[in-house]
Amino acid sequence: MQLLDGKALATKLETQVKDEVKKLKESCGCTPGLAVVLVGQDPASATYVNMKKKACDRVGFYSITHDMPESISQDAIEKTIMLLNNDTNVDGILIQLPLPKHIDTTKLLELVDPAKDVDGFHPFNVGRLTTGLDGFVPCTPLGVMELLNEYNIDVKGKNCCVVGASNIVGKPMASLLLNAGATVEICHIFTDDLKKHTLQADIVLVGVGVINLITEDMIKDDVVIVDIGVSRTKEGKLVGDVDFQSVSKKSSFITPSPGGVGPMTIAMLLKNTLKAAKINAKEKK
Ligand code: GUN
Repeated sequence: MQLLDGKALATKLETQVKDEVKKLKESCGCTPGLAVVLVGQDPASATYVNMKKKACDRVGFYSITHDMPESISQDAIEKTIMLLNNDTNVDGILIQLPLPKHIDTTKLLELVDPAKDVDGFHPFNVGRLTTGLDGFVPCTPLGVMELLNEYNIDVKGKNCCVVGASNIVGKPMASLLLNAGATVEICHIFTDDLKKHTLQADIVLVGVGVINLITEDMIKDDVVIVDIGVSRTKEGKLVGDVDFQSVSKKSSFITPSPGGVGPMTIAMLLKNTLKAAKINAKEKK
């Protein structure tokens, strides 16, 4: 069994982004900028936003967080997004999800300028991904592809079982795998007999937030396991969706969680923001 060390790869990629930011600053005086919209008091969201901000600081990005109260109106968030769309210091806009129940999330995501959509959640970029065109790709599944690539795990012709069908992880994950030539199954909450599907897979990618969902009896020997889930146990420990102890013994490669996919998500956010900044820098010339 070999660990897919997302933390180590993310550190390496961050150094590359930092170098490129320096070059960009020297060549055109441009500083990549990321604006984050955070609504409400969800502790997990606050932690993620804080980690993203710190990563921006480390690589030399400009970053700004619009911290809004839970009670904020749809209209007020929309006005903020429109201002950010027109702000030349901002190359990327990220709306931290989930949003409070009274907010229309889809409407907000559609309001973000697709050229600043570093999360890849705008239907324009979703469409480009499913058609195999260049665009912004959601950070978590993009990070998984980079991690597999780093360890020379070619998905072409492999049976991949994606567990979870969210717009943030499962669906874009499946699109990326399909675009890379994999045979893809997507399992979800209504899937009857999950084990029947995971047992067929060469690669299992799971991101649903259910502790110990994947156990050793559900996988074949030498499988590749990508654990995208993060949950907190009653004792306060962070764990993934995979029973790591037993599953790791049967697998050829496995991500730890935490420390696997999570750091890659942040590294991809930096890469996507740099990509947006480079396009904007060209347009300014
Ligand atoms: N909430 C959980 N994951 C994500 C993510 O990747 N991006 C945003 N914006 N919100 C999230």
